[in-house]
Amino acid sequence: MRLARRAAVAIAAGTLLTGLAVHGTATATAPVAGDATRTLTVAPAQADTLREAAAEQGRFIGTALNDGLLGNAAYSAIAGGEFSSVTAENAMKWGSLEPNRGQYNWAGADRLVEFAAAHGQQVYGHTLVWHSQLPGWVENGGFAPAELREIVDNHIATVAGRYAGEIDRWDVLNEVFNENGTFRDSVFHRAFGEEYIADAFRAAHAADPEAALFINDYNTDGINAKSDAMYRLVSSLLADGVPVHGVGFQSHMILGQMPSTYRANLQRFSDLGLEVVVTELDIRMNTPSDAARLDQQADQYRQVIGDCLAVSGCSGVTVWGVSDRDSWIPGVFPGEGAANLYDDDYRPKPAYGAVLDALGGAPGPDPTDPDPTDPDPTDPGTPAGCTAAYRVVSSWGGGSVVEVSVTTAAALDGWQARFTLPAGARVTNGWNAVFATSGGAVTASHVAHNRAVPAGGTVGFGFQADTGAHAAPVVALNGAECERR
Ligand code: XIL
Repeated sequence: MRLARRAAVAIAAGTLLTGLAVHGTATATAPVAGDATRTLTVAPAQADTLREAAAEQGRFIGTALNDGLLGNAAYSAIAGGEFSSVTAENAMKWGSLEPNRGQYNWAGADRLVEFAAAHGQQVYGHTLVWHSQLPGWVENGGFAPAELREIVDNHIATVAGRYAGEIDRWDVLNEVFNENGTFRDSVFHRAFGEEYIADAFRAAHAADPEAALFINDYNTDGINAKSDAMYRLVSSLLADGVPVHGVGFQSHMILGQMPSTYRANLQRFSDLGLEVVVTELDIRMNTPSDAARLDQQADQYRQVIGDCLAVSGCSGVTVWGVSDRDSWIPGVFPGEGAANLYDDDYRPKPAYGAVLDALGGAPGPDPTDPDPTDPDPTDPGTPAGCTAAYRVVSSWGGGSVVEVSVTTAAALDGWQARFTLPAGARVTNGWNAVFATSGGAVTASHVAHNRAVPAGGTVGFGFQADTGAHAAPVVALNGAECERR
């Protein structure tokens, strides 16, 4: 099972890289089918998803994933299409995995790992040892230290062992400090003192030697007593040879309260040789929001991304949740919210544009807008033939990724490819074409860089749909049906 999942990641990642080459390189060439000496030149294009833009910066952009929402097409299309890393919002917490001693509930965590594999995403495991969302049987079990030691070691070995090789980073420890920098009281600290921290790192490393091991906390974003304590702790762990590889900065921020020492703080941890990650970013405000404050929020998001990019050890930023609708904020901070990149209807907010821009990307064409350069739809079409391959790269409950490749016998100056999806299904995201859907009929129109196709040339485009079902449709090019390849 493990090997199969790993292979799936490799395949999905390879697929994405192919897509990236078209999107991201200044001038890319692709061999034209049937003639090895000729190439189609692809014009430069800026990355138009967060994940592509982040990849071009050598960073990841993540989201906290709620596996219970994967049946929502908009949610899963954004989560899979825009983000290159997923953190389990709740599914890998001890209380979710082992609510009763010895009774494991793996379904949610497995679903998340499978979703990540299908979308070529990294997985950020969260979290092995934490005082919160801890099952009552651990917290209130009254165990003697020796038995608690066994329980914790067994938990780490079981969970990190199950997903070994599939998790890129683990929050081994979460929230070990009080605000003044002393160690937080917890069942673990009471039994073992601060040694429980080093022991947890060693146990996690033994269970999954490939994962980068993190300690994560909140209100450690700027330089303050709490982040000083974190700095001292990781410095001494490193000096003792404990396998700690990174520090997570949750960055649950308040609008207008960007710590002025944010970058300097990330930098000092990076200077220790550690990886640093912004692990749970959100920027909340009093609700309802308004345009001015959404713009201010966009600026603050931009600053966070800029600070991460400025620090060489900062490998990525995870936003805590996909949209304002699924964010934890309104439930925990009543009267506050609007903290994420997408609004309650999964529309990108100004903050989305700011993050994309800060990562060096630019928005692509809106799939719902008609392309002004569309060929005349009454055009009788290309008389010569075409062949087409329609390939479902991956599919899951409520969605799929499809790649279409069309080879034309005649040269084209502008093209439209038409095919059908099951009735009611929609294209939610796509690349290398502009998409319009109407009652299951999809029209994919050329974009500037692939408008001209020489005789014998091939164009490829891809999309995500909010359906997992496809009926191997016939593809028509400029009105003429193509032979299936
Ligand atoms: C939150 C989740 O978002 C909520 O759904 C859950 O009810 C409580 O936990 N710091 C952390 C995260 O490390 O695990 C928390 O996630 C948010 C604060």
